[in-house]
Amino acid sequence: MMKGSEENLHFLAIIWMAVFVFLRGCNCDLSYSVPEEMKRGTVFGNIAKDLGLAVKTLSDRKARIDMESEDRRFCDLQRGELVIAERIDREELCGSKPSCSLNYELVLENPLESHRITLQIEDINDHSPRFPKSEIKLEIGESAIKGARFPLDEAHDSDVGRNGIQTYSLEKNEYFTLSLNSHSNGRKYCELVLDKELDREVQQEVILSLTASDGGSPQRSGTAVIRVIVLDANDNLPIFSETVYEVSLPENSPLSTVVVTVSATDADEGANGEITYKFSHISDKAIRMFSIDEVTGQITVIGPIDYEDQNEYELWVKAKDGAGLASNAKVDIEITDVNDNAPVIYIKSLNVPIPENVAPGTEIGIINVQDKDTGGNKQIRCSIQQNVPFKLNPSIKNYYTLVTTSDLDRELVGDYNVTIIATDEGSPPLSSSKTIHLSVSDVNDNPPVFELQSYSAYVTENNKLYSSVCSVTARDPDWRQNGTVFYSLLPSEVNGVPVSSYVSINGDTGVIHAVRAFDYEQFRSFKVQVVARDNGSPPLSSNVTVSVFITDENDNSPQILYPTPEGNSFMTEMVPKAALSGSLVSKVIAVDADSGQNAWLSYQIVKSTDPGLFAIGLHSGEIRAQRDISESDSMKQNLVISVKDNGQPSLSTTCAVYLLISDNLAEVPELKDMSYEESNSKLTSYLIIALVSVSTFFLTFIILIVAIRICHRRKPRLLFDGAVAIPSAYLPPNYADVDGTGTLRSAYNYDAYMTTGSRTSDFKFVTSYNDNTLPSGTTLKRSPGDNSDCLNFTSLDFPENGSKCSTLVNHLNIC
Ligand SMILES: *[C@@H]1O[C@H](CO)[C@@H](O)[C@H](O)[C@H]1NC(C)=O
Ligand SMILES: *[C@@H]1O[C@H](CO)[C@@H](O)[C@H](O)[C@H]1NC(C)=O
Ligand SMILES: *[C@@H]1O[C@H](CO)[C@@H](O)[C@H](O)[C@H]1NC(C)=O
Repeated sequence: MMKGSEENLHFLAIIWMAVFVFLRGCNCDLSYSVPEEMKRGTVFGNIAKDLGLAVKTLSDRKARIDMESEDRRFCDLQRGELVIAERIDREELCGSKPSCSLNYELVLENPLESHRITLQIEDINDHSPRFPKSEIKLEIGESAIKGARFPLDEAHDSDVGRNGIQTYSLEKNEYFTLSLNSHSNGRKYCELVLDKELDREVQQEVILSLTASDGGSPQRSGTAVIRVIVLDANDNLPIFSETVYEVSLPENSPLSTVVVTVSATDADEGANGEITYKFSHISDKAIRMFSIDEVTGQITVIGPIDYEDQNEYELWVKAKDGAGLASNAKVDIEITDVNDNAPVIYIKSLNVPIPENVAPGTEIGIINVQDKDTGGNKQIRCSIQQNVPFKLNPSIKNYYTLVTTSDLDRELVGDYNVTIIATDEGSPPLSSSKTIHLSVSDVNDNPPVFELQSYSAYVTENNKLYSSVCSVTARDPDWRQNGTVFYSLLPSEVNGVPVSSYVSINGDTGVIHAVRAFDYEQFRSFKVQVVARDNGSPPLSSNVTVSVFITDENDNSPQILYPTPEGNSFMTEMVPKAALSGSLVSKVIAVDADSGQNAWLSYQIVKSTDPGLFAIGLHSGEIRAQRDISESDSMKQNLVISVKDNGQPSLSTTCAVYLLISDNLAEVPELKDMSYEESNSKLTSYLIIALVSVSTFFLTFIILIVAIRICHRRKPRLLFDGAVAIPSAYLPPNYADVDGTGTLRSAYNYDAYMTTGSRTSDFKFVTSYNDNTLPSGTTLKRSPGDNSDCLNFTSLDFPENGSKCSTLVNHLNIC
């Protein structure tokens, strides 16, 4: 097809050339037209024919073609015909000139003849339209409005005329249309017209193909790609990925912990899409807890997060793009509890001290426990140690009562340290403890208890006044006054006399003092009840018996009952002349009011007329002949016997024994009666003694009274001022067995205090007296026969004031 049409073209051209030549006729100018790009050797004109000359003629006349200026020859003359000698490119020869021709000179010789040959070069469509660049780049802002025009580069086609660019076409698209226009010189150009607004965020670039077509046949076209880059306009807000971010954060999260990363996107580009994050609305507290990274949107912890302080935060975050468009999102941070608070124990009330007599189950305190955490972290178990008589009873929510579980005894345990431990149920659990000091207060529940069940005290007679007899101690474990013990004597009587006149007790120390001197010979023991009483209210007391035993002292010298004291001529013993060695001649009978060793008497002959004739039994007092009496022995034998007791120191008495060695009473008529009836004579002698004693006593008494009267007149208040009170102490008789020779009534020792009205003088009458009563007043009676007794008036030392009556110290021995 193609080849056929090319031949056709050839043929048409030849026709056209022939016509051209013909029209010129013999005009000597020849003109030919030839398309460009013909093959070499192509014949395009017949000169011979056009000039009407034979081919032979032409060669003969050396016809040749000269080119006017050019070196290059594009055609040749061969056998009268013009042929293409070289490729002709119209565009090279003439560019874009609309017509293009080459001029030659046909020269003939013989005759010289010249013809002008014009070779018209025809254009063929051998070039396609071409755009300067294969890609046309356009940058169009997305804000460009509809109808905006954007000129496009022109395409170029070297061909001319119809073969030049005739039209442009644009690939079909939704955004642009093409507008074709012509320059004044006829050249076509085109513009892109925005038909629909661009959105960079939808499509960042639009690629179109633009085609330029020429009008040749066949038509040629060239294509360029239009790349429309949609430029961003800040037409988009940043958009957060979530409008509300809900996160939970454990409390105590360390600093720099990432809470959440908010992120917003901005469809815009560049600065318009560059987002910075900031807190837009945040509480003063939250601003100290959280910070946000402006670039990444990462929210981190910068402060101590405490659930108990605040358990949720609401932050507003603003995301702003470079051009200032912003949007907000909310971040809700819920703080989750961590068991970071130990329970706290509050002692709400405490009734201390606890009286020791409270009943088990008594409430003594209220305890409250609290934990700031929540949930299980807030659940608290409370306990106290086991070994105390208290327990915790759960009461209303978080309250416990502390109650006693058993009886308390302050005397056993006076105070308790109770440790309350509160543990929560967190994991790990936290606990705290508190120690409370519970003191038990005293109740007077213990009576004083004496250290001993009973006390025995031994006091030597003739003790000093206020000398201590013994000391009792009672203990009371109670507190202070409830345990303070006072001692007192239980009122009672000993031999009819109040016990207080014998002893007194120091109420504080329990030391018992004698308030009088005791006489063993009067009584040997008595009992005192001591009461120990505490100072409680009501007081408790207990009592104890103190047995006071008076021990003997050798204060009585032996008393000789037989023979009667010295100087008495009645007591002469008859010794038969025929008395043999060993025979009993007499016996000294003595007694001692003391007892024991103090009353153990021993007899000794200290002086005798004829030593060796008589001996005395050391303890029996029996006087025996040591050898047979002989005629040569003196009739009168005197012995001085010493009777000594065994006390320390020992006391002794002496007596004389008169012995008459004779068989005949007549030799000693004055002793006749007695020798027969010893007891009778003894009685008689007693009677005589009594008589003498009474009269002596009476006389003495008269003298005494006179003396007192005189004394009284001088110092009226000194001795027997008014009524002399002699306490009528009743004392039982004291008996002493001496040597088994019979029961002998010993003297009574009698102590009495006499207080004169002047309160200064205490007199003690120490008297041996065998009467049961000591008469008051001035009369002192004696029974007859008490010839051996002595009445001693001895002034004692004055414990309080001995000076005033020191002049009255009397020592009266009245025997
Ligand atoms: C109780 O605690 C106090 C002080 O710590 C201490 O002095 C006291 O002896 C304790 N009492 C008991 C019964 O443990
Ligand atoms: C002594 O006991 C009584 C109850 O018997 C009590 O009221 C008082 O407080 C106690 N005194 C002291 C000092 O403990
Ligand atoms: C002395 O104690 C006994 C038993 O301890 C008691 O029976 C008696 O009543 C008490 N006597 C006095 C006077 O308190």
